[in-house]
Amino acid sequence: MKVKNICCIGAGYVGGPTMAIIAQKSPEITVTVVDINEQRIAAWNNPDVEHIPIYEPGLSEVVAEARGRNLFFSTDVDAAIDAADMIFISVNTPTKTYGMGKGMAADLKYIELCARQIARVATTDKIVVEKSTLPVRTAEALKNILDNTGNGVNFQILSNPEFLAEGTAVSDLHKPDRVLIGGDLDTEAGREAIQALVGVYAHWVTEDNILTTNVWSSELSKLTANAFLAQRVSSINALSELCEVTGADIQEVSKAIGMDSRIGPKFLQASVGFGGSCFQKDILNLVYIAKSFGLHEVADYWEQVIIMNDHQKRRFAAKLVKTLYNTVSGKRIAMLGWAFKKDTNDTRESASIYVADYLLNEQATVVVYDPKVTQEQILADLDYLGTRSEAENRALIHVVNSAEEACDQAHAVALMTEWDVFKTLDWNSIYAHMLKPAFLFDGRRLLDRKVLEEIGFDFYAIGS
Ligand code: UDX
Ligand code: UDX
Repeated sequence: MKVKNICCIGAGYVGGPTMAIIAQKSPEITVTVVDINEQRIAAWNNPDVEHIPIYEPGLSEVVAEARGRNLFFSTDVDAAIDAADMIFISVNTPTKTYGMGKGMAADLKYIELCARQIARVATTDKIVVEKSTLPVRTAEALKNILDNTGNGVNFQILSNPEFLAEGTAVSDLHKPDRVLIGGDLDTEAGREAIQALVGVYAHWVTEDNILTTNVWSSELSKLTANAFLAQRVSSINALSELCEVTGADIQEVSKAIGMDSRIGPKFLQASVGFGGSCFQKDILNLVYIAKSFGLHEVADYWEQVIIMNDHQKRRFAAKLVKTLYNTVSGKRIAMLGWAFKKDTNDTRESASIYVADYLLNEQATVVVYDPKVTQEQILADLDYLGTRSEAENRALIHVVNSAEEACDQAHAVALMTEWDVFKTLDWNSIYAHMLKPAFLFDGRRLLDRKVLEEIGFDFYAIGS
């Protein structure tokens, strides 16, 4: 079977870029991305491609090439479902904030709503592809809903987890290490559905890099890949604290161990803590699943990755307060960077949110600059934590338009996101406009200690 019409529910960080590349690489397939959020769809349709809702290097060019040709963005979910022979579900699956599994399990209400909507609308056979990261065995629940509430048409469920990282989504999608497709390998219809999706990716990915497995392996592999990556970051961050008390340097240690080809150099960069929409959520999910099967040692093992990450964020903020003579009350602290990593405007679970919250609790005045994150988003992130009233957040935090403005008359600067532009700031001039002694806390090991100390900064870098 050759896929001719694809619908993707969810025009977010995963659905948007993934569908844009599928459309770019497969001109004969019509790809429609739908979302219930009208504003988001309007932004995807903005005639000026520089204003699409997601910032990713190279994405606007891909959208410019395919949009209106075979790539469409719409809020008419029913029509897109009806027309499609393959439907990707790419809605968000946040950690539950209520009831059983609160704070740990994935909230699947949006997934279930999608399944019910597909079942209600579909009048022809459909292949339904899980793109969202889901707990193991979700496909089974999806199939139950589809088969029992549908109009008697056949549904095949595939799991096709996304491994793109934000900030490099376009190149990750163009050259994936692997594409993983889980499906029902035991039936002819299942194998056909898998091959249909293989056929889509085969437009630009060699078949050797397309792995097919059973559904459960595919679902679990996604959680596991993120857990392993996050574990490396927590491992190196754990050692960064040890470096600070022993005189070792975490960058030297990272390099030394990373050159062991069995370990490898990636994901060994010490930081103020990992963020992003996936690592924490997926590990909590893994922990919850392990616990629900009574595997307590397995659960505790993985939970430690999160405990370490929370510790790292708290430790960085506490270090700042301690260094500023144990009080930051009324002091101006500049935070450079709010996104959870460079080259994205995504702020979900960013360490900046937690560090800012800590400093605000200590009554600091926090001034933030990020090249791609809006003031609205920064305030929304803080309000979401619910630590203090919206009015208090607005009184204590200021968002400005340049790094220089943020640092002007500040007691200290905290470098939070590794944006390239922060490397080439005029640190001499920034120093001249700060209160003395001027403190600089590098949470990303982005800056050169020697240069900054020569300027006069009282300099702290994580892990040294
Ligand atoms: C994705 C995955 O789906 C998630 O499981 C993974 O772990 C992280 O990445 P992402 O694309 O980043 O999520 O989420 P988001 O940017 O929030 O986009 C989801 C979109 O789905 C939103 O635009 C939302 O409006 C839309 N949505 C949600 C629907 O259209 N219908 C719904 O019922 C729910
Ligand atoms: C991750 C996975 O990499 C991707 O495969 C999956 O599809 C989604 O989750 P993402 O969250 O976009 O991608 O970014 P990633 O590059 O993995 O970084 C996650 C966090 O870890 C960031 O806050 C980053 O700054 C931090 N990190 C990463 C470190 O602190 N040190 C490192 O060495 C690497």
